[in-house]
Amino acid sequence: MKRLSFGLLITTMLFSLVSCGNGSGGPSETVSNGTSETSNGIAITDQTEETDKTDEMEMQGGEEIMESREFNFVTKTVTLNSGYEMPLMGLGTYSLNYDTCISSVTIFLDNGGRLIDTAYMYHNEDAVGTAVRASDVPREEIFVTTKLYPNQYSDAANAIDDALEKMGLEYIDLMLLHHPGKDDVKAYQAMEQAVADGKIRSIGLSNWYIEELETFLPQVTIMPAVVQNEIHPYYQEIDIVPYIQELGIVVEGWYPFGGRGYTKELLGDETISAIADAHGVTSAQVILRWNLQRGVVVIPGSSNPDHIAENLDIFDFELTEDEMEQIKNLNRDEKHDWY
Ligand SMILES: NC(=O)c1ccc[n+]([C@@H]2O[C@H](COP(=O)([O-])OP(=O)(O)OC[C@H]3O[C@@H](n4cnc5c(N)ncnc54)[C@H](OP(=O)(O)O)[C@@H]3O)[C@@H](O)[C@H]2O)c1
Repeated sequence: MKRLSFGLLITTMLFSLVSCGNGSGGPSETVSNGTSETSNGIAITDQTEETDKTDEMEMQGGEEIMESREFNFVTKTVTLNSGYEMPLMGLGTYSLNYDTCISSVTIFLDNGGRLIDTAYMYHNEDAVGTAVRASDVPREEIFVTTKLYPNQYSDAANAIDDALEKMGLEYIDLMLLHHPGKDDVKAYQAMEQAVADGKIRSIGLSNWYIEELETFLPQVTIMPAVVQNEIHPYYQEIDIVPYIQELGIVVEGWYPFGGRGYTKELLGDETISAIADAHGVTSAQVILRWNLQRGVVVIPGSSNPDHIAENLDIFDFELTEDEMEQIKNLNRDEKHDWY
């Protein structure tokens, strides 16, 4: 994905119209600089122009960069604090074996999807790389995320090289630490070095919460671009999401449908089903859209071609403030995994 010129981004924001996929206006109120706000204050911008990569842009942190964490519902991307654009809707590949992973990623890319989430622990980085390399979609339009697992932290530099080799890619768009563990600072520093070496474009964390971030951030140089945590209507991280966003970090949610074994209850939830009926969409689409409207990137897992296409089709409807509130009220702080 391209890096944006911050100056042009701001200029474009000033002159752009607010839109929300179908051109029917932003999710809620429009303010004068071409930015609209969702019910919980997440800014959504229509930014229609891009430039080539610029060296002038400040790479990490800083006030200017903080302003660019806006979800653009036209390009369907967000600009990270690293300066790179990340798509808002991705494909999770957890539990997909080699062949299934290749076919799922291929279908996803063919349907316009551009963000793919894998990890060392999923044992399918090679399949993701194979599908990306085989695709007609240019590499620079695809955003590949992978993660180091704690058993790799003590020798992270080699683990990064292994990931690149397994995927057969020249660079990784985003690498995360899977969850806190021994030598996590050392591993993060290895990722910082890999950024300097051009092996990784953006780095971040997964399963880091407020206390963990407070301890971790003072020990590292590059502000994480993304924090990826469990997020679904029954586990919303109501305090944690805004805390991370206020640091200028993009929040990405895993288990959007609750994870395998829980999807039936969540997708069958009466409140969510009623909202889906009102919009003529599915419960899955409502859940994904709810995430986007609160500023959370989504990576639903699927190997079903119909589901993959359905999950990408979430940019032509908009939840009302009342519907966002109804879903917020479903929160039970019910975590479905231990990280
Ligand atoms: N960082 C971490 O610690 C962490 C942990 C767990 C997961 N993750 C990431 O997050 C991703 C998402 O999690 P997940 O895949 O485990 O769980 P999930 O996305 O909550 O749920 C996946 C399940 O939902 C079904 N599904 C997908 N789209 C659907 C639709 N439109 N309608 C009905 N059912 C649908 C899938 O079945 P079908 O295949 O039949 O569509 C699959 O059984 C993972 O793939 C992984 O990339 C990260």
